[in-house]
Amino acid sequence: MNLTLRVWRQKNAADPGQFVDYQANQISEHMSFLEMLDVVNEGLIKAGQEPIAFDHDCREGICGTCGMVINGVAHGPLQATTTCQLHMRHFKDGDTITLEPWRAQSFPVIKDLVVDRSAFDRIIQAGGYISVATGGAPDGNSIPIAKPDADRAMDAAACIGCGACVAACKNASAMLFVAAKAAHLNTLPQGKVEKDRRVVNMVKAMDVEGFGNCTVIGSCEAVCPKEISLDFISQLNREYLRAFLRAKE
Ligand code: SF4
Ligand code: FES
Repeated sequence: MNLTLRVWRQKNAADPGQFVDYQANQISEHMSFLEMLDVVNEGLIKAGQEPIAFDHDCREGICGTCGMVINGVAHGPLQATTTCQLHMRHFKDGDTITLEPWRAQSFPVIKDLVVDRSAFDRIIQAGGYISVATGGAPDGNSIPIAKPDADRAMDAAACIGCGACVAACKNASAMLFVAAKAAHLNTLPQGKVEKDRRVVNMVKAMDVEGFGNCTVIGSCEAVCPKEISLDFISQLNREYLRAFLRAKE
């Protein structure tokens, strides 16, 4: 199939950026979206032009690096799918496809479609871990965990930190990400000990990084490639309130 790509080109964070049109010709419907971009970039390099910068690593829907906005939707038209897992069979010959980076103040553009998501790392550093005494690995069965708790923690742990939730939110809120990262630890006995400190510090870090407030629109859940539920935001709000009240006792 032959396509027109309208791609956001931006040299760096200070550059105002602009859309530039490219032709993507003889694209196989079996290619992944990123393979299609590889083909376009090979052509640009051969023509002595600057290739389109985009982020990627695993190309298996695991690492969370490959986000971009495709035709106005974070990660593109297929639900519960990362950009790297999207295939060209979901587009038609002759289509014009618009590609943009995540647009959020807390994710400054590094180049073209690549944004700096280190704000997420700093939120994790504020509380997205458990403190453990080092030593021999404890027996896996030494702390029994109820199946519903294990399932809920696994659902939350599915978050790959891609940032699509922020890109889709009109407030550029990171609540779905923070809620998932807090819930996956808070739900397990090993994580409960530091629960209050975790939620307060992670929410504080989110505010410091300049992410917006959650107004429960749900656009984050709609684009999340791992189908993280809004229910985790409710859990975070409950846990934050309890931590706040306990600190006042
Ligand atoms: S909650 Fe979903 S959209 Fe947000 S960072 Fe995690 S996986 Fe990505
Ligand atoms: S490249 Fe790793 S999730 Fe897409």
